[in-house]
Amino acid sequence: MSDDKKANRGLGQNQFINESLSLNVFWLRIMKEHSLFLRLGLPCDQQELIERALFFEQAFDRLLDRAQRIQGGNVPVVRALNEESIQLTRELIEYKTRLLLMMLECRLGGFNYPLLIDHIRREAIYFVNHLERLQRGEMINPVTNLLLEEVFWLRIMADHSKFIKHLLDPSERQLVETANVFSEQLDELRFQAEDFQSFLRINPMFVPSLGRFTNDAITAITSLRDFKAQAKDLIARCEIISLIPELLADHVLREAKHSLVILRDCQR
Ligand SMILES: [Fe+2]
Ligand SMILES: [Fe+2]
Repeated sequence: MSDDKKANRGLGQNQFINESLSLNVFWLRIMKEHSLFLRLGLPCDQQELIERALFFEQAFDRLLDRAQRIQGGNVPVVRALNEESIQLTRELIEYKTRLLLMMLECRLGGFNYPLLIDHIRREAIYFVNHLERLQRGEMINPVTNLLLEEVFWLRIMADHSKFIKHLLDPSERQLVETANVFSEQLDELRFQAEDFQSFLRINPMFVPSLGRFTNDAITAITSLRDFKAQAKDLIARCEIISLIPELLADHVLREAKHSLVILRDCQR
């Protein structure tokens, strides 16, 4: 069976194209920004690592541009884009892994928290996994999928709260406290999502408590999204004391909005 036919086995052609393009347009920009954030946090004497980060910024920018220009339903063109995104993102994952190990072995200075490097590496792995699933035309049980997405996004949102907390100036006591409350609440929700994963692993079926839990998760992420939007406006107006660049504030806000779209979609 040809690859193009395989892609259509579980998934319609249009669904394959639409899902591939929206995944690429969202995540290629995110990957480009990760490369920028890493570069800005590297010590200025690490020329080779800085150049590698710059290579990724430019390569992801070109790929993003290509994804945005694709119009109409051409399966082979979209398959080729997916393949290139997978290859480039795999290289970025290797780079992130290298930086993370250097940080953990105290062989690299700079200002990239290891948890941040691990976090953006998890995001890159998520992107590759989703692209590979699309390339294989694979369908997942909806409950298993909902739980995978919940565990992933709740951890991402808890991490964001921690980054905000640790990048705010310590004098911003009220905002630090708010970020901390979000961090704890989202961690608790992630543990609960992992409990559901365990309950339903053998028999993944939709139970009413999972519906209630998903609403709780969506409500918590919605509040965090509003907090991030407010923080982003304050940063833009220079009304907050922090080490958070406006682009990073926008980046985490976009991820919160994206997670809400995904979770609402899985809920249906
Ligand atoms: Fe990110
Ligand atoms: Fe993130």
